[in-house]
Amino acid sequence: MSVNVQNLSVAYRSRLGDVTAVDDVSFSLADGEIMGLAGESGSGKSTLGNALVFLDPRMKATGGKVTVDGRDLPIADNGAMRHKRMTEVSLVPQYAMSALTPTRKIGRLINDLLKSHHIKNRDEVLTELKRRLALIGLKEEVLGKYSFELSGGMRQRVTIIMSTLLNPSLLIADEVTSALDVSTQRAVGEMLLEFRDRGYVKSAIAITHDLSILAQIADSIAIMYAGRLAERAPTSVIVDNPLHPYTQALLNSLPEVGVRHDQALLTGIPGRPPSLANPPAGCRFRERCPFAFDKCTQTPPFEEIRPGHLVACWKVSQEQTAVTAGAGQEQA
Ligand SMILES: Nc1ncnc2c1ncn2[C@@H]1O[C@H](COP(=O)(O)OP(=O)(O)O)[C@@H](O)[C@H]1O
Ligand code: SF4
Ligand SMILES: [Mg+2]
Repeated sequence: MSVNVQNLSVAYRSRLGDVTAVDDVSFSLADGEIMGLAGESGSGKSTLGNALVFLDPRMKATGGKVTVDGRDLPIADNGAMRHKRMTEVSLVPQYAMSALTPTRKIGRLINDLLKSHHIKNRDEVLTELKRRLALIGLKEEVLGKYSFELSGGMRQRVTIIMSTLLNPSLLIADEVTSALDVSTQRAVGEMLLEFRDRGYVKSAIAITHDLSILAQIADSIAIMYAGRLAERAPTSVIVDNPLHPYTQALLNSLPEVGVRHDQALLTGIPGRPPSLANPPAGCRFRERCPFAFDKCTQTPPFEEIRPGHLVACWKVSQEQTAVTAGAGQEQA
């Protein structure tokens, strides 16, 4: 198991007190696995991704344990994490392609990055960099260009190449396809697959509000709602047989391939996600759920309904119990 996240909670310090944006989240990734992480805006996806690589001063891990390749990842210790970034865990932050320093050429930016990580065999890494640029169809000339001279798709590919140069065990790619047109989205998605297949990254979390891109690249999908995981399963199961009412609503709201969820709020289900500053007790989807019943005032456990398929929903767990009891009676 290359990555294991157990009961992770992450809060923002705010004037009104802590805002817990990631609340008791657990999952694991196998070697070679790409997990998609989807959900509406504000559900905590970026907070979760950032927390595994860089907790900025506004954030704090309030609980949980993370291991990568069997070793503890000291997410709360910024000094210790400095040695893990790029080599063990790496992040392409949301909006990274717009944040490339405009006054330095791409080659200089990459050199700065390697220097800041005290990389000794810089020549070797730069040779590998050129090989990877060629692999994804970018010319070496991009190294002599400023970021504003590149198209969005080229910039995004450069940010992914930079983040994976030192072959991290885990790559977190936060909305790397979101600002791109559909054909460039596909090229960037294929690049992630290629890098995984070649072992440049061992496993990856692809964060997006666009479930349709995940259907193309992810091995499994985790659905996040209001700071918690609602469902996790292999991609085909999430797409063809989702069990959580929120996942079902997300899929029903998918108008067509390439349209993002923030452009298409959940049709058919009124309301918005609750504020994480003051979340309601029990299931956080309760206010919007057409199946809510009395038990839903308690927090549903995130439990394995079938091998590899985890769901946090009382309705689903009751139905599962009924199916199991029925099968038991038939056997008796
Ligand atoms: N700087 C901050 N201070 C307080 N709360 C924040 C801050 N940034 C984000 N949040 C809270 O965290 C929630 C999750 O944000 P985020 O992780 O960016 O969600 P997503 O990536 O799913 O859109 C937001 O809904 C908000 O309540
Ligand atoms: S736990 Fe209850 S409110 Fe929550 S999704 Fe399931 S049925 Fe709906
Ligand atoms: Mg985000």
